[in-house]
Amino acid sequence: MTKLSEFVKSADWKSEKHVPAIDCPESVKAGDWFTVAVTVGKEIPHPNTTEHHIAWIAVHFAPAGGKASFEIGRFEFSAHGQSATGPNQGPVYTDSTVSVRARVTVPGTLFATAYCNIHGLWEADRPLQVS
Ligand code: FE2
Repeated sequence: MTKLSEFVKSADWKSEKHVPAIDCPESVKAGDWFTVAVTVGKEIPHPNTTEHHIAWIAVHFAPAGGKASFEIGRFEFSAHGQSATGPNQGPVYTDSTVSVRARVTVPGTLFATAYCNIHGLWEADRPLQVS
């Protein structure tokens, strides 16, 4: 049986433009707010055209030793230059970068997934310590 996970790709975000880069503190204090920023194309820009773009980013937190991940946020990028006058003729584009504030009570792993309308699903993860 084929699983969707077989199609989720990963690599080093510094050398592969589709991989989300997760920026956040290495360690946070339990219960304190912190910011998680996720960018696709941080080192190598990803195209942002009507035909080829990042459609969404989702951020999850998986507590260490837990059995489920928790969605922190999901962000859709809806403007890619589309227009009644034609592709890439529109007046607005959204970029594939987001930031969200969160707080945790236990350590775990942050996950970011990103979807390119041509190249599919990509993921990255980053451990998060709690002091
Ligand atoms: Fe792509």
